Amino acid sequence: MRILVITVSDRAYKGIYQDKSGDIILQTLKEELDSKISNIEKIIIPDEYDMILNALENNKDKFDIIITTGGTGLSKRDITPEATMEFCKKEVRGVSDYLRQESMKETIFASLSRGYAGVNDNVFVVNFPGSEKAAKYCTKLIIPLFEHIIAMIKGEGH
Ligand code: MTE
Repeated sequence: MRILVITVSDRAYKGIYQDKSGDIILQTLKEELDSKISNIEKIIIPDEYDMILNALENNKDKFDIIITTGGTGLSKRDITPEATMEFCKKEVRGVSDYLRQESMKETIFASLSRGYAGVNDNVFVVNFPGSEKAAKYCTKLIIPLFEHIIAMIKGEGH
């Protein structure tokens, strides 16, 4: 599996605070998937529509899974789902619904995350909220789906 984590945050990008959510996603993936990962990388970009879209476009052939964290909420600068939606050719609503539903068992504030999930040819993209706690929680929820997602986007079937 080749996995890219994109932290979308003005403040993490400027170095105002440490990118804890991106790091916890990386750490959790490495712990849980270990030898199944052939490449794992992280980048940090600001909450800029074009930069999110470019980051997805530029990495779509290098990774099987792209996880973004941050920018899913309600403020003006929260535009990660919109950029992801433009990039993806197909929505995978079951995944984003699942993350929200399960997260709402933990906190009703999970209803405020507008995270999107979808596919563009050979890459699957999913948006996680920006908090460290949410990022770890969503990573653990989604890991069991990865192998099947990758087989399906490669056309390997069930
Ligand atoms: N999901 C989980 N599992 N745990 C959380 O603590 N926080 C919520 C929500 N999703 C949360 C969560 C809150 S408070 C917000 S505002 C939204 O994610 C959006 O966060 P974002 O703008 O950082 O992406």
